[in-house]
Amino acid sequence: MNTHNENQQKSAATRMIYGVLGAVVLFVIGTLLYRYDVLAMLTDSYSEPSASQLESEAARKARQKLAEERKQWDESVTAKAPEQPTGRGGYYVPPAEADIPDDEFGDSVRRGREIFLNTGTNAGEFVGNGLACANCHLDSGRLEHAAPMWAAAVSYPAYRGKNKQINTMEDRVNGCFTYSMNAQDSEYGSAPPAGHQVYKDLESYFYWMADGLALNSSPPGQGYPTPPETELGYDWQRGEQVYADNCAVCHATDGQGRKDLNGRYIFPPLWGPHSFNWGAGMHRVNTAAGFIQANMPLGKRFSLSDQEAWDVAAYVMSFPRPADPRLSDTESVDETTDKFHQHKDYHGQTIRGIKLGEPLTEASWARFMEQNFGQEVR
Ligand code: HEC
Ligand code: HEC
Repeated sequence: MNTHNENQQKSAATRMIYGVLGAVVLFVIGTLLYRYDVLAMLTDSYSEPSASQLESEAARKARQKLAEERKQWDESVTAKAPEQPTGRGGYYVPPAEADIPDDEFGDSVRRGREIFLNTGTNAGEFVGNGLACANCHLDSGRLEHAAPMWAAAVSYPAYRGKNKQINTMEDRVNGCFTYSMNAQDSEYGSAPPAGHQVYKDLESYFYWMADGLALNSSPPGQGYPTPPETELGYDWQRGEQVYADNCAVCHATDGQGRKDLNGRYIFPPLWGPHSFNWGAGMHRVNTAAGFIQANMPLGKRFSLSDQEAWDVAAYVMSFPRPADPRLSDTESVDETTDKFHQHKDYHGQTIRGIKLGEPLTEASWARFMEQNFGQEVR
């Protein structure tokens, strides 16, 4: 009796152990299949996630982590402070466009983004050339090493040597309108007046983009990098070949870019009357070399050598462009050179028979184009 009972109990226990083991094995197999996407592989629909998929996945996770840490911090002051969200490259991850809030502030953010992307359409009366903010601050101002707006948003007010005073964000944006967008040739005749809605909307956009970044943190990826100086220095004549090989396909041999059927630039102009003026940061060979090496040719960033970047930047900056607006405060081009151009640029030098920095007239530009590119002005 006893032995019979014991045997029965033993086999019940064994069955249970086998049962549990079986369940564990099935669970492990299932998890592995799921984890490594084996079913998808078997059905041939499996493909390695692309670098950009992995990047946006990492970005999404970083933002999610920030939201969770903020919630904990809200609930308890002893929770640890939220960390700045960073993605695969170690750079700050701005919030996704889809997360712009659905309220009045969000409306301002959206307007700011539209101004940034299509400046000529949405703030047209202050734009005197063929450019948009996003032509130089890429991926709607989100891209590291393309002077991203999230880094700018945590860096102002600041002292600037250029105008020797404390600059608010509004002052800084005014500077890019005045020089990079050549506002002197716009309908209004200058950058937006102080307190204009254009500034408020742009500032809302930048502030929203920096949500999660520490104030005054000099985040990596801010501004444009500068390639190290080379033994040969820079030379615009050497840069001509680099330009022909890497840039002309989009920006055209004559540097005037290309437009779509509606007359809007798809590839922006690099010199001449529709480009930025002689006061813009980009006309400095070192700044342009950094922008170009880090961002051009579009889709192949960081592919040019240091030497190529310096030379092609020099080539682009050796052409005429709209006058420095500060020229009107001085006696002459030479005085403007002395006062404002003691850095790496060609302002005041005569290249291809034209004194760089002289105001461009329709006639002088037409003659220049005819002589150098043998064609009608477009
Ligand atoms: C022709 C190219 C160009 C265009 C167009 C342009 N910018 Fe800039 N922007 C620059 C350069 C160059 C700098 C200086 C970056 C540096 O110092 O590394 C800069 C800097 C800035 C900064 C400060 C960045 C920082 O980290 O301190 C802000 C803000 C800014 N631009 C806003 C704008 C806005 C808004 C527009 C459009 C209205 C605009 N920019 C159009 C070239 C441009
Ligand atoms: C595949 C096309 C393409 C190639 C090739 C290319 N670019 Fe660009 N470039 C663009 C586009 C498009 C923009 C505007 C970026 C944006 O709005 O996202 C731009 C912007 C620029 C700008 C700032 C805006 C302006 O008009 O001043 C400069 C400077 C520039 N490119 C120089 C160069 C140089 C130099 C090369 C060659 C080393 C080059 N690019 C190659 C497409 C190209």
